[in-house]
Amino acid sequence: VRTLKIGLLGCGVVGGGFVRLLASDRERIASRYGLDIEVTRILVRDLDRLRPGVDPKLLTRSAIEVIDRECDVVVELIGGTASASCFIRRAIDLGRDVVTANKALLAERGPEIFAAAAKRGVGVGFEASICGAIPIIRALQRGLAGDTIERITGILNGTCNYILTRMERGLSFDDALSAAQEKGFAEADPTLDIEGIDAAQKLQILAELAFDAPVRRQTVTGIRAIRTADIESAVRRGKTIRLIAEAQRVPGGVELCVEPREIATDDALARIVDENNAVQIRGRAAGELLLVGKGAGSLPTATAVLSDVMEIGSRRSARATAVAVA
Ligand code: HSE
Repeated sequence: VRTLKIGLLGCGVVGGGFVRLLASDRERIASRYGLDIEVTRILVRDLDRLRPGVDPKLLTRSAIEVIDRECDVVVELIGGTASASCFIRRAIDLGRDVVTANKALLAERGPEIFAAAAKRGVGVGFEASICGAIPIIRALQRGLAGDTIERITGILNGTCNYILTRMERGLSFDDALSAAQEKGFAEADPTLDIEGIDAAQKLQILAELAFDAPVRRQTVTGIRAIRTADIESAVRRGKTIRLIAEAQRVPGGVELCVEPREIATDDALARIVDENNAVQIRGRAAGELLLVGKGAGSLPTATAVLSDVMEIGSRRSARATAVAVA
């Protein structure tokens, strides 16, 4: 069994979920995959906050202590772009593999980060950055690599979907947003969710993976203007409102659009409720695929982080074995 040491940046909704998930699954992973995953240090803002299931001895307020001390993988779950970008660059420079859930950072500086990682020969896992538990990054990078993707249509923001579906059941916009915040679905700044920006960042990353083509046009409208009356009126006409993100090939590139749409209640996307997400992919040869699952929340998102960590661990083991054989 090989040990894989993790420096964890952030212990909020997803970071805390990662620690708890690892505690429950560490033995399974060790016995099944020969990988013992150990969190060696955790960056937090507040040392005194109560964190059930987290060993207080691991906590520190110093990012340098997490990144520079002996560790194999730096897991970045602090969100935001300024500090996160510095920490990730430092980790890459030190030869650490990186796992992140930070879609805002990847949308802003993805190419730069991936280039630095490639130059240093380390990996960057980002499955958790899009659609929580749905393995959409792996699906596009590997499962569907044999096809030409024509279009991606989806529900990419759990908070907005939660708000819209709760409003269908009579809750006000503000109460539904508060509930989504309490459940840990919303971003630290929920404007990113309700203005459609979070969905647009995810759509941009998916489009970069799926289409090798420049973005010709991008439009983003959120759900802030949706009123209960709009939802009731849609329901009376056999429709339902969802925040839809769509990327499609057009002559010379790709068009990206995020907007609330009225869709028929028997549409597959109309059946996606609460914080669930869905991604409909049209492949030229494969036809239509639909992936559905929890798009936000502590443990569902933590599964994507842990899968990335495990993949990095098995890649490292394979490299070590190859070196030993040579
Ligand atoms: N705020 C995001 C959402 C979290 O609601 O979908 C998951 O990326």
